Amino acid sequence: MNVIQLEKRIFWVALAFVMLLFGFAALAINVFHVGLPTCLTSVKPFQKGELIARSPSHYELHYVARMWRFEPKEVTVPAGSTVDIYLSTTDVTHGLILLGTDLNLMAVPGVVNYARVKFDQPRDYQLLCHEYCGLGHDRMAASLHVVEAASYRPQTAAPVGELPTDRRYQLLEAKECMSCHSLTADADLSPSFKGIYGRREKMSDGSMITVDDAYLRESILHPGAKLVDGYDDLMPVPTLTDQEVDEMIEYLKTIK
Ligand code: CUA
Repeated sequence: MNVIQLEKRIFWVALAFVMLLFGFAALAINVFHVGLPTCLTSVKPFQKGELIARSPSHYELHYVARMWRFEPKEVTVPAGSTVDIYLSTTDVTHGLILLGTDLNLMAVPGVVNYARVKFDQPRDYQLLCHEYCGLGHDRMAASLHVVEAASYRPQTAAPVGELPTDRRYQLLEAKECMSCHSLTADADLSPSFKGIYGRREKMSDGSMITVDDAYLRESILHPGAKLVDGYDDLMPVPTLTDQEVDEMIEYLKTIK
């Protein structure tokens, strides 16, 4: 066989493989309903996560990724529904992987990424961030529940609405305090704010202190000065006015 013939043969074999590839892609999309991720340039990045029902079997799910959580944190849809997932981020690049499905999206600042997933059977899914995005990356998760269509009750209020409306809470949010601290007992990354005022804490040097105004002020302005035992010196020094520090301390006193 001369070279020209061999080249022709290689060409046809390569073409056959390419056709096969497109054939499998078409099969995956049309028969197995594999969602292809798409970057949408026509949709403006959003700030609020929500589930919107387009019909009883078609939902639009807007996820917002931010350090270090997904909003909404908990979503329930009925089995048999098609869910259009839109992902946006308010800070750095995150990733979204829905374990147990082939959904894998990047959350890139300034754009909205999209994919469609069809949920046939009732099941609980976990959502994880798969792009290293900072200290709290490993606990950035959310859940999606698919329940029997007959027992499905539409959610009336978005879970995001549970956050306090207090102006001083919004100050803590604005200064990124809530990225690591929580109002619940959750204290993986840093001490919880729940019941913080008046709490007895063991320091990294073994001494005991009672959390009072002076300790809070010092810890806000000089985070590394006295560390609670078991935590590292990770908190950045915030830029705050005296009045803001006062407001934070007053608010922390109210979190029982
Ligand atoms: Cu968000 Cu990793």
